[in-house]
Amino acid sequence: MKAAISTTAKYLPEEVLSNKDLERILETNDEWIRTRTGISERRILRDPEKATSYMATEVARMLLEKRGICADEIDLIIVATMTPDMIFPSTACLVQGNIQAKNAWAFDLSAACSGFLYALNTGAQFIESGNCKKVMVIGADKMSSIIDYTDRSTAILFGDGAGGVLLEAAQEDGYGVLDARLYSDGLNGPNHLLMRGGGSLHPASHETIDQHMHFIQQDGKQVFKAAVMAMADVAEEIMQRNGLTSETIDWLVPHQANQRIIHATAERMGITEEKVVMNIAHYGNTTAGTVPICLAELDEQGKLHKGSNLVLVSFGAGYTWGGIYVRWQ
Ligand code: UT7
Repeated sequence: MKAAISTTAKYLPEEVLSNKDLERILETNDEWIRTRTGISERRILRDPEKATSYMATEVARMLLEKRGICADEIDLIIVATMTPDMIFPSTACLVQGNIQAKNAWAFDLSAACSGFLYALNTGAQFIESGNCKKVMVIGADKMSSIIDYTDRSTAILFGDGAGGVLLEAAQEDGYGVLDARLYSDGLNGPNHLLMRGGGSLHPASHETIDQHMHFIQQDGKQVFKAAVMAMADVAEEIMQRNGLTSETIDWLVPHQANQRIIHATAERMGITEEKVVMNIAHYGNTTAGTVPICLAELDEQGKLHKGSNLVLVSFGAGYTWGGIYVRWQ
């Protein structure tokens, strides 16, 4: 049986960092940010005692509560993140400990902005194989921990947040996670969007700090071009493989990196604005959090019904990208 999403949840920190706030610390302006990206504000997890595992745990707790089950029932926890609390142990193990999921095994998955899609497809395999009955798939990133707030080319883009889903076997054939096409391009991608410091190549040192190597670095133009092409291509591929048309698709759920990239994808798919999930104005780019936050909002707003056709698409560092077709059950 295919895997289906039985429950959704999201967590966004309360503190808002608006474009106006950024105007005070950077040479930028609200109008530029809104027209070039679609972002008006983002959320920041300011508390230095709280990191990605805190947000992921909030999501995990909500998933349990909404589904009405206890943590013992969880078989597997996958956390997609590029801002783990620590390099090791994994953030997924921290979440497991926090919710006391003593029968689960847990691991992190690294695929940057495509992390949630990669993790969703990975989790789905364990359900389909019959290996697991309940899998938590969470995308969480505390982007403010790796942002250089003196670099206007990246500081305006990102926010903190987390979202997640519970995967279980679909109750009927023809529902759930029906198709996935995932890609990476390690031949051309790595140098355009990365954080150089803190790994085994450049462990933390006075030099890595002086050279701002513990912050995200992006060649925005290159990434933009690659993202527009890849997201539209994979969306079209998912449509063709599954016989979907602009009429039969109910929701495009895209990674929220830039409103212009999302519009280009929707245009290629021939779908109208009302079918495109867009919350970038309020949260900016929360990396692995964007897609599951969008899903949780659709769900909260009562916009998902049995048979709703969803196309999830993402693009991020690596490069990594992909599309997933979900038929809501
Ligand atoms: O989620 C992971 C994937 N990431 C993405 O998908 C991000 C992809 N890239 C983008 O979204 C866009 O490239 C950005 C939003 C990052 C930048 O937009 P752009 O239209 O590519 O702008 P640009 O970098 O070409 O800069 C245009 C101008 C430059 O000035 P000049 O050289 O034309 O005088 C920049 O210096 O805008 C200037 N600029 C800014 N001005 C005000 C750059 N950043 C800012 C800023 N505020 N924050």
